[in-house]
Amino acid sequence: MTNTHHDDFKKLSLPRDPQSYADSPLSRAFAQPLMLGLFLPLQTGGWSQSTLPRDTDWSYAYNARLTKKAEQLGFDVVFGLSQWLPKGGFGGQTKYRDNFLEPFVSTVALAAETRRILLLGTIHILYGPWHPMHLSRFLATADHLSGGRFGANIVTGYAENEPRMFGAKRLEHDLRYIQSEEFVSICNALWEGSDNLDFNGRFYSLEQAYITPRPCYGRPVLASASGSPAGFAYAAKYSDIVFVSSPAGERLDDALPKLPAHVSAVKDAAIAEGRQVRVIINPTIIVRDTSEEAQAYYQAIMDYADLEAIGSFSARHTAGDSKSWLEHTNRGRAVGGHIHIVGSPDEVVAQLIRLHATGIDGIQITFYDYEPELAYFGERVIPLLEQAGLRLPVPELD
Ligand SMILES: Cc1cc2nc3c(=O)[nH]c(=O)nc-3n(C[C@H](O)[C@H](O)[C@H](O)COP(=O)(O)O)c2cc1C
Repeated sequence: MTNTHHDDFKKLSLPRDPQSYADSPLSRAFAQPLMLGLFLPLQTGGWSQSTLPRDTDWSYAYNARLTKKAEQLGFDVVFGLSQWLPKGGFGGQTKYRDNFLEPFVSTVALAAETRRILLLGTIHILYGPWHPMHLSRFLATADHLSGGRFGANIVTGYAENEPRMFGAKRLEHDLRYIQSEEFVSICNALWEGSDNLDFNGRFYSLEQAYITPRPCYGRPVLASASGSPAGFAYAAKYSDIVFVSSPAGERLDDALPKLPAHVSAVKDAAIAEGRQVRVIINPTIIVRDTSEEAQAYYQAIMDYADLEAIGSFSARHTAGDSKSWLEHTNRGRAVGGHIHIVGSPDEVVAQLIRLHATGIDGIQITFYDYEPELAYFGERVIPLLEQAGLRLPVPELD
């Protein structure tokens, strides 16, 4: 093979974007003024480090029930996060994240249980000897199994211990995004697939490489999650959906003034690339019939904070080099999510209207006690979101 320059991957061919197909599942989701996503609790404790009793469960059967319910309620997407944790997860009384279903495998399985909803699984593409040939073929297959509903949330890893589990040292923050750019550019060229691929890059080489099948809508859906300039530059070029965390901690009133600039930083970067990205955020929603009931429940979750698990969760983030979540407090971690939305159905909708006005295109919701709270949200909040023009009614599945 010939010598190449570091950025030769920029010359690789690109598939069509799933957004450019009017009938793709992604375009259907993007037609919603406010996309609705459910953050699946594939891991013990979901997102909340509190011992207040609840039935949230990491089992596949529980997550499949949630996914089907979310689909029936018209949700656009379910999403699974990924972490590689030592024995016992984050510990504490909750044994936080002690069990953790792998999200890629789990969301592929969910394709068989559903018909309309997008399925996003998180993948650490830089860990281990993981080659673009693997991922492009696995994702093209998942794309077909789901009829174009499958997406990968491409993450570069921020934790200090995770790469060591794979026998490697953590790469420097921005270099991880450069390696990811090369990785995903190769996947794009393989999905475009007009010919066998020869490529000799900085990190990966391929000779007469080819994969099938061709994805249903150009390529699988791509997402990424970050808050740093390098992460936003990556997202602008490759992602359809970008997850951001709050730039000012979990209190909505603190986040609202800072979100417009944060959201437009990544949207403007995409426009400069001739693309469009949708930005979504992860709120925990606590909704009850009255404001007082919601506030009392919110307070009870915090009163039952699992301080030991919170301590080890915070330590992981302190040892990590993410530019996201910097302002989060331990009190907030008991409830989880990146922003807290608390109140009666009307108050929740009023807060979501303000969130949407910052440029946020969708919410990836976490609940404390998922099953009853998802059902309540569907019954009491979604009709109000429709009345407010934030949701278009979704036809019932037959
Ligand atoms: C909403 C959100 C969700 C994320 N989900 C994951 C995840 O599931 N697994 C993971 O390792 N990192 C996850 N991350 C971390 C990012 O992928 C990224 O590694 C980290 O934020 C460092 O990059 P940054 O400095 O660009 O933000 C998430 C980040 C955000 C903002």
